[in-house]
Amino acid sequence: MTTSTDHSISRRAKQAAGQPISQLMGMALSNPNIISLAAGFVDNDSLPVTTTNLATQKVLAAGETSKAALQYGSNNGDEQLRTLVLEQAIAMNHAASDQAANYQTTLEQVFITPGSNQLLYLIADTLLDPGDIILCASPSYFVFIGAVKNIGGRTIGVATDNNGIIPRSLEEALEQIERDGNLSKVKAIYTVPYFDNPGGTTLTAERGQQILDIARRWSRDHKIYVISDEAYRMLRYEGPDVPSMHHWDPSLEHTIVAGTFSKSYSPGIRVGWGFLPTDLIGPLGDQKSNIDFGAPLLAQRIMATILEENLWLPHVEKLRGVYRQRCHAMLGALETHLGDVSGCHWHKTNGGLCVWLTLPEHIDTGMQGTFIKAAVEAGVLYVPGEFCYASGGEPANHSTIRLTFGVQSAERITQGIGLLSEQIKHWQ
Ligand SMILES: Cc1ncc(COP(=O)(O)O)c(C=O)c1O
Repeated sequence: MTTSTDHSISRRAKQAAGQPISQLMGMALSNPNIISLAAGFVDNDSLPVTTTNLATQKVLAAGETSKAALQYGSNNGDEQLRTLVLEQAIAMNHAASDQAANYQTTLEQVFITPGSNQLLYLIADTLLDPGDIILCASPSYFVFIGAVKNIGGRTIGVATDNNGIIPRSLEEALEQIERDGNLSKVKAIYTVPYFDNPGGTTLTAERGQQILDIARRWSRDHKIYVISDEAYRMLRYEGPDVPSMHHWDPSLEHTIVAGTFSKSYSPGIRVGWGFLPTDLIGPLGDQKSNIDFGAPLLAQRIMATILEENLWLPHVEKLRGVYRQRCHAMLGALETHLGDVSGCHWHKTNGGLCVWLTLPEHIDTGMQGTFIKAAVEAGVLYVPGEFCYASGGEPANHSTIRLTFGVQSAERITQGIGLLSEQIKHWQ
């Protein structure tokens, strides 16, 4: 029966109902002792209370300047924070590469947002008309897939391997789209180049350049952008850093960089940023003006102070120590319990917060299957991989699981993987 409320709610809002996050939280609540390897939260114990307290006091102890922090700010954000974020990113790229780059990026190209999710949403809203296409890795970050869908756009998944999106597959996807007469609808290629959520993969410097080259070559009657979502760049536990795509496109012709302090400092402060091509400054800025005309300034001033006082990088080092141990606990437990179970495999990530696990194909890990209910009853929760697939392109693999190691202790992770593995073996 159609109710009056049905008429009041927009099609977009109805379409957004039943988000994976709320369904999974409901499942977690059904068993309070459950070991959730699903939550995308960060470690609670290492949240930086002391340094944030210091920075907040400093921000609020400066007379008239303190009052400014409690005012509205500007649409694209606090100038000092924008300067610091840009300088830090360029310094990291130079340190990660033996090739110099001639950065032309100006402060006007830098936007601060309350978390990078807002930036990602604004990009999708700025680029997409209904039916337009964003190419992405298969699997990809499900919140971004949801945002594109909400706006009426389509995501097309491209095959990946241990190094992320396969350039040849990206090219083939574009060839197919062209044959279908839809090339004019392709607006961007979305990548999470460092420790992808959910795949855990990192693009090599060579792959990053190849993807950029593909975007340039296929930009025939309009520009195809590359969105480089660098949410996990700082959470590296082994090996050397890789330069961002920004390094290969230093004036940001095609590249849009999205960054955040949520994972490397605190999601409660929720400060993210974007480095934009000059042609997007106006259109994206206009969209942002309609939403909040500037991120909360107090949070920005606190983050700027944390950077100025050199409190951020030591905290990142501390987090790396915490997560490295948990990452090893998860990979070690998977090896112990599933190393010789045929059909089970996973990517041995060396950063980020996720491990992507593939099970034998007869096990359906999805919300409609019985496996997830058995896992929850046994006391462990995961994110079904089915949520992480684009609306088109590479087909979804329903025997996949996203695991996260950010929240639980190493002991609970080991225990949780043990419980999950028992179920998997039971279903063999
Ligand atoms: C790949 C990816 N991008 C962006 C974000 C957004 O983070 P925030 O909005 O807190 O900056 C997340 C959060 O989990 C993420 O996993």
